[in-house]
Amino acid sequence: MSASLNLTSGAPRPLGILAALPQELGDLIEAMRAASGVRTVTHGQRDYHVGTVHGTPCVVTLARVGKVAAAATVSALIHAFDVEAVVFTGVAGGVGSDVRVGDVVVASTLLQHDLDASPLFPRFEVPLLGMSHFAADTALANRLAAACERFVAEEGAACAARFGTHEPRVHRGLIVSGDQFVASATGVNALRTALPDALAVEMEGAAIAQVCYEYGVPCAVVRTISDTADDHAPASFVSFLTEIAGTYSNAILARFLAGPAAAG
Ligand code: ADE
Repeated sequence: MSASLNLTSGAPRPLGILAALPQELGDLIEAMRAASGVRTVTHGQRDYHVGTVHGTPCVVTLARVGKVAAAATVSALIHAFDVEAVVFTGVAGGVGSDVRVGDVVVASTLLQHDLDASPLFPRFEVPLLGMSHFAADTALANRLAAACERFVAEEGAACAARFGTHEPRVHRGLIVSGDQFVASATGVNALRTALPDALAVEMEGAAIAQVCYEYGVPCAVVRTISDTADDHAPASFVSFLTEIAGTYSNAILARFLAGPAAAG
């Protein structure tokens, strides 16, 4: 992409923060507006909000849903906004046996569970890249997990009481992504069988991680568990998204952004 599309020239480079849906960003854009004023740039049918929040220069946007949308959006963050690192926040379906609604999962690695070019390439492997698992940046993921742990310690019990959920726990491990909302016992059990290490399923993270890997940009993904990807998932997802997701996002991002330097 041409240099003229670099819309944030001059140091320091911002952190890219994205989610699929507005509820998953909480009040982040309003917080930016209050802290620094926001410049909004429309690019590729998305609004990119450029400003500073909790002392960190950021570009905040919505990817919308699915792997193509996520890949296109993070590519723009890298090329048009020159982000130094990327953080994706949102909700996911719990897949791991001890992952419950209200828990938080920070990705160590991400994989596309619906990618299958077998028998030409091993199942899950990205053809010609020779990889199936994409690692989150360790320093960024550590900082995100520390923010989640602080949130759980400081507000977890109150959140559980307020929302009628379990007291949240923080998990770290494999998040799997695909272009489908998993909403049946059969579907989630098939994931457990194929990918026994998977903790959570969503629709964007592994696409973000692959693009960031290809461009050498550090990335991290945090997901709050809105449902357990079974027959109850649609109702659980909708009520968690509308009533709870923003509270988690606000609490985690505030602690993350107020912490040490963005790129770890
Ligand atoms: N995001 C939240 N819940 C999900 C599910 N069950 N499947 C895919 N993406 C999700």
